Amino acid sequence: MSTRVALSMDKDWSFHLGEVDEPVEKTHSYIYNTSKAGACPGVPQEDFDARDWETVNVPHDWAIRQPFSEDGAANWGYKPGGKAWYRKVFAIPEKYRDKELTIEFEGIASHAVVFFNGSVIHRSFSAYTPFQIDISDRAHFGTRPNVLAVFVDADVWEGWWYEGAGIYRHVWLNIKNPIHIPQYGLSIRMEEIEENTWKVNLFTNICNQTEKDTEVRISTTLVDPDQELEVNINNEGVVCEAGEESQVETEFTIEDPKVWDIEEPNIYEVITKVFVEDELVDSDKTICGFRTIAMDPKKGFLLNGRPVKLFGTCNHQDFGGIGVAVPDALHEYRIERLKAMGSNAYRCAHGMPHKELLDACDRMGMLVIDENRNFETSEEGLTQLRTMVLRDRNHPSVIMYSIFNEEPLQGTEEGKRMAQTMRDEIRALDDTRFVTGAMHGGLDAEESAVDSLDVCGINYQTDQYDSFHEKHPDMPVFASESTSAFSVRSCYEDDDERHLISCYDERCADWGSTVRQTWKDIMARDFMAGAFMWTGFDYLGEPTPYTWPSVSSYFGMMDTCGYAKDAFYMAKAIFSRKPVCHVLPHWNHRGREGEMIRVMSHTNCDEAELIVNRKSYGRKKIDLYEQAKWEVPYQPGYIELIGYKDGVKAAHDVKITTGEPVRLKIVPWHRGMYNDGRDAMPVNIYAVDEKGRGVPDASFEIDISVEGGVILGTCNGDPTCHEDFGSGHRSLFNGRCQAIVQAEEGASQMVISAVAPEVEFGSLMIPLSTRKTEPFVESIRQQYLTGWKMTLELFTEKPDVNMHVDEFDMNTWMDVQVDEKAGTPAIFEDQEGKYGIYRIRTKIPESINGRLPVLHFESVWGECSVYINGELRGETAREWPGPMDVELREKDTGTAEIRVLVKSLNFNAGLHSMVVFR
Ligand code: GAL
Repeated sequence: MSTRVALSMDKDWSFHLGEVDEPVEKTHSYIYNTSKAGACPGVPQEDFDARDWETVNVPHDWAIRQPFSEDGAANWGYKPGGKAWYRKVFAIPEKYRDKELTIEFEGIASHAVVFFNGSVIHRSFSAYTPFQIDISDRAHFGTRPNVLAVFVDADVWEGWWYEGAGIYRHVWLNIKNPIHIPQYGLSIRMEEIEENTWKVNLFTNICNQTEKDTEVRISTTLVDPDQELEVNINNEGVVCEAGEESQVETEFTIEDPKVWDIEEPNIYEVITKVFVEDELVDSDKTICGFRTIAMDPKKGFLLNGRPVKLFGTCNHQDFGGIGVAVPDALHEYRIERLKAMGSNAYRCAHGMPHKELLDACDRMGMLVIDENRNFETSEEGLTQLRTMVLRDRNHPSVIMYSIFNEEPLQGTEEGKRMAQTMRDEIRALDDTRFVTGAMHGGLDAEESAVDSLDVCGINYQTDQYDSFHEKHPDMPVFASESTSAFSVRSCYEDDDERHLISCYDERCADWGSTVRQTWKDIMARDFMAGAFMWTGFDYLGEPTPYTWPSVSSYFGMMDTCGYAKDAFYMAKAIFSRKPVCHVLPHWNHRGREGEMIRVMSHTNCDEAELIVNRKSYGRKKIDLYEQAKWEVPYQPGYIELIGYKDGVKAAHDVKITTGEPVRLKIVPWHRGMYNDGRDAMPVNIYAVDEKGRGVPDASFEIDISVEGGVILGTCNGDPTCHEDFGSGHRSLFNGRCQAIVQAEEGASQMVISAVAPEVEFGSLMIPLSTRKTEPFVESIRQQYLTGWKMTLELFTEKPDVNMHVDEFDMNTWMDVQVDEKAGTPAIFEDQEGKYGIYRIRTKIPESINGRLPVLHFESVWGECSVYINGELRGETAREWPGPMDVELREKDTGTAEIRVLVKSLNFNAGLHSMVVFR
């Protein structure tokens, strides 16, 4: 291997929901022996029998599949947490001996204990913080399996929203040469030193895990967004001391690079190669973007020198139907939806996000406030903080680090000291981003965390914007959180009994404001750098202002599936410079003929005219934050809103009374997808009338199925819906629902069907294509041999192991249990020199783990000879228990008789742990 290898460990984990009882023996020998390296009893042991566990792939969120329970907490979406085990048994090829081997978990919710080959090797205390564990010393190479076991406790919580449960982000096995770039070992800074001339400083950390001081040479390549080579630099050799980590700095300038901006997110790639005597030993890459950011106390946020109001949303990480185990592609979907609303900024509420979310923000031009979960200055707290900065500091999208959200200590001198320590930690690693914190009080305090921040974030408290600015004229400020307005998609009447809130942008939490008011307050103040609305998407938990049976929130501009509520268009009208014209409500109000119905505009045009069934209700002047409203009598037909700019028609929107639903229509996010078992896509399912128009008030149950793929989850955006997210059975909520689908590996097409008795079915073929897939670590499969028999009595003379056994002989043979639970066979106690025979009739598989199987005895004791179909095939002599392997041959496969002759060498002997083919 010349350079590093990253192997995905996402596939084939054994999963067990609940704790596993491991009986504790209170004997000295049990306690003494289980206190040693490699000796954690139970699940972490190789001989643990996990045969009846479920097989799952990660990312995995077990809580999302659990039923909602009224006994649960509204905050967590009435989903139970619980505890669970994951286990993966795998081989590491001999060729990786002498390499640095690490396992990287990108995120486990919530607390986790990681065991490797029988030892605790890590404890993790935050669902949001990735971690990496060095297993080089403890790895088994060749055919001997490695056992990775993870105990997850999701009963502990870090937040007041749905946090999910389990290994919900990717897992990697990283293999590197002893001289390598460590994790997060590349950092890059760009500075515009003159107009269009940028100085680039690339810092490369090099670990030398050899015992020799070694000269290394680094070469750096910068590739521009069109994949053209921009810069190629070879550093002078530097000596890296044995056992140390050194840093090499590469500096160069670049003229007129393509700038990264929200409109044109130009991304450069930096490839770093490490050579030892001209041999390439490692290579790593990072991305970077040339952009400048500034925070001005008077003008707000500046991107590349121009003021950009932060049109932001706060978001949790879960997504409809799949919880927190968000497939990579879905981050892009979410960011695409937010961009479609005109949003340019995303706050990772309230914890470090999936790394793939930041990748999507880089690619798509979305500014990010990265956020730390725990406001702590303990070593653990600071490790979490540092991990965020180290992992995320090269992303051009990241503009600020938020160190807390609404902390009771924020307005105290103690909070000030904590914030200062955290700010300094960040600055030591990255002084190119602003440090902020989200204050929900304490703004007036004599001393507070504000004193330690670069930029003050104000949550809600709109009445404090001016007074804060007056008191701190030199401090940049923004609304780190705002709005908390309520609405339910396609709902136009409040009904507190049914937990429905209309979309006329009227109701909000006591501490919040409507969407319109939020922006009125912000846009009137240049010094306010922007605001982050709570929230872009509805999420599980916090169903404010309700509790059960509501399970998800009402705050989103979009529902949990990413379907726009009317608020989406209100925000878009404010954010967009292009004309936006949206009219509400829909025009299906059967049974209400003649009743007055409220019609409202969401437009940024100067004037708007409402036409109802050909009749004009006249033009109204538009105040962006007031909008126009009409009361019109309902008659089926249509309503049309025409927006005028400078007296000229600029945009319009129509809502038409549809016919009855007659058919289901399936609309995918993209026309095609990849068949690599990783790609995933939302598909939207609508009830349509005979003219193919979506029926906005259709609500009935449908069944969704997929051939050539699987449904990862379904959802409909109804905050009170308790249907199983994992099932294809789902109700349409106000005309639609969504399935997240994934193609089967290697399939050439996927067919999605949706059926309901009321209407004609819908079906859609998705063409699949291949792409280069991540190499992955296969799990070792093993087949247990059960049903052993043993001679009823021991022999003093060596017996004929291949003696004839009558099929019906029940008198000289007994059934014996051969596994770790059976322990040492009592029959061999103090029988030194005596012989016994074990036998089993079984089927030897042709292949396991892609090759001829090995017959593996986990623990044998004494002098053992193994016979297969009468032929001696393996021997060992053990005065103390130990493993034994017998290589199988092709001719062994099929039905076979396996016999083991055991001679006791001391006070005990026999087979006393599992025997498997693997
Ligand atoms: C804020 C809090 C958010 C969310 C929101 C709901 O105070 O920071 O996490 O709970 O209220 O309105």
